[in-house]
Amino acid sequence: MKIIAKNLIKNYTKKNLPEVNVLKDINLEIPSGSKISLTGPSGAGKSTLIHILGLMDKPTSGDVFIDDIRVNDYNNNQLSKMRKDNIGFVFQFHYLLSDFNVLENILIPVWDKKSEKIKRADELLDMTGLSLRKTHMPSELSGGEQQRVALARALINNPKILFADEPTGNLDRKTGTMIENLMFGLCTELKTTLVVVTHNQDVANLADKQLKMVDGQII
Ligand SMILES: Nc1ncnc2c1ncn2[C@@H]1O[C@H](COP(=O)(O)OP(=O)(O)OP(=O)(O)O)[C@@H](O)[C@H]1O
Ligand SMILES: [Mg+2]
Repeated sequence: MKIIAKNLIKNYTKKNLPEVNVLKDINLEIPSGSKISLTGPSGAGKSTLIHILGLMDKPTSGDVFIDDIRVNDYNNNQLSKMRKDNIGFVFQFHYLLSDFNVLENILIPVWDKKSEKIKRADELLDMTGLSLRKTHMPSELSGGEQQRVALARALINNPKILFADEPTGNLDRKTGTMIENLMFGLCTELKTTLVVVTHNQDVANLADKQLKMVDGQII
């Protein structure tokens, strides 16, 4: 899926405090199936931007188009359906549910039809090298393994777009590189559009296009 952002502005206001201008007129176009990296200093607005592009947050003004549909017009039900059907997220912290095993965690986004999805979950376990870990609990896994489960969970519904916000920020460089390569490889194989926020230039170099954000603007 293609993503277009036009004139995105995000401001936060708090009583008795000056307005915080987090996104200052962002314009970008992310072609379907492309892989984009987003780098920039802490506080530049990277997470804010991908939360808006991923329909988890709304801009103060400006438009987001997904496959030429202007999603600003969507109500909350339409937004959550669009997210559920088309968008996956991987965060810096894995957010696995500690009382569920690896297989169950991967099936969480599709719990209502989990029996149909077990085959797909097994394929993803295989692709992420976790086949022998499927009945383990998250606490029994290494950080890299936990993050691979989070990646498999993000891909269980075959999203058209995957957003990753510093997915390996908590891992050592070697494990991080392995997971990033895995993520890029899977997105190529599945033709998924990928937007990855990273502080690692080696990862940014894997992208088709590198974007840099400074102080709420893409430079
Ligand atoms: N609810 C909020 N109210 C006020 N300011 C906010 C709020 N949420 C985020 N901000 C501010 O928006 C700016 C951008 O935050 P954001 O999380 O997008 O940065 P980032 O580029 O992802 O940084 P990092 O690399 O540290 O994750 C920061 O200055 C932050 O303090
Ligand atoms: Mg961030």
